Amino acid sequence: MDNLVRIALLPGDGVGPEVMAEVLPCLDWLQSRGRRLEIYHLPFGADNFLETGETLPEEAFEELRDGFDAILFGAVGDPRIPDGRHAEEILLRLRQGLELTVNYRPCRPLASGSRPALDIEVFRENTEGPYCLQGSTEPGRAVDLAIHTEPAVRRLLQAAFQRAGSRGCPLTLAHKANVLKHGHGLWMRTFEELREQNPGVAAHGMHADALLCALVQDPTPFGVIAADNYLGDLISDLCAGFVGGMGVAPSISWAPHRPYRCAVLAEPVHGSAPDLAGKGLANPVGMLLSTALLFRHLGSEGEAAALEGAVSIALAEGAKSRDLGGTLSTAAMGRAIRDHLPR
Ligand code: NAD
Ligand code: IPM
Ligand code: MN
Repeated sequence: MDNLVRIALLPGDGVGPEVMAEVLPCLDWLQSRGRRLEIYHLPFGADNFLETGETLPEEAFEELRDGFDAILFGAVGDPRIPDGRHAEEILLRLRQGLELTVNYRPCRPLASGSRPALDIEVFRENTEGPYCLQGSTEPGRAVDLAIHTEPAVRRLLQAAFQRAGSRGCPLTLAHKANVLKHGHGLWMRTFEELREQNPGVAAHGMHADALLCALVQDPTPFGVIAADNYLGDLISDLCAGFVGGMGVAPSISWAPHRPYRCAVLAEPVHGSAPDLAGKGLANPVGMLLSTALLFRHLGSEGEAAALEGAVSIALAEGAKSRDLGGTLSTAAMGRAIRDHLPR
């Protein structure tokens, strides 16, 4: 019998709660198939911050870190908090505090048949680079530090090499080592070392600017793309654009070295979409595919594939929210997808 899995749900802001609502029946469905879950809803986000002054209290962070196995996250960001302080103190705190080094962002056409022509998986380092949030604003001068450490770079690259090796696909490292001699110099050295240890993987580095042009011209030759936090953020949104846009792109982050009980967080690539919030217009596909990635990570491979399959079938049958050119609401999209889950 499976162990009990404790999952924390943090819907967050804007469309976050709307897309998270479509996840709940999928968690019930997973339980109906024998997986034992304990699910907790946590309120952290803009409303809670504006009401209580708290973003993610230290006790809550510690409870998440030590008392849960996984987090499902919606999105954070609210126009009433223009400096995004709560987003940093919630989302970046979780990514960094739980050492969720590997952020995996797959991009495949959704309603395609057997083997998609485009099959890119972005491995984004998720805790460092300019996201270390160290810097200063002075008169006439502003500084953002970017810190890269060898253990995190190595963990990210090892995961990317492993995946490219098991897929038998090329691995491309996106970098700007021609300018960022220190930080990306470390990336290049570590990449070279792992390349020598993994002779079976066709791995090479590309300047990120040239990579973006090559991707736009023809994304199909690419397989796994590894990048630091900042470049990975940009590349993954570009790739989302190849397969339907922000509403459909999933992601999952994990800590390969498992420093804490809670070593995984799944969240869509998109943000809180304030332009859509409260209107029932958000596409829940990115959130639901992130949920499928979590099912897979937890060992429920059959259910992960079934949920991904349900999304593909619903889209192939014409279920479309507004971002995909259709008229279905968030809830109607969720229902159209769930209709294709095996009982
Ligand atoms: P965004 O992803 O929220 O929106 C970008 C575009 O994609 C908008 O046109 C939006 O309507 C569309 N979009 C996003 N999600 C969609 C969905 N589910 N269905 C259909 N269309 C969708 O990015 P942004 O506008 O740059 O940022 C808005 C806020 O979200 C900001 O506060 C930003 O900091 C935050 N943000 C948070 C996360 C996160 O929580 N992981 C990610 C990105 C942005
Ligand atoms: C993402 C977002 C975040 C990031 C923001 C909201 C901090 O764009 O998850 O891709 O830059 O990582
Ligand atoms: Mn982003």
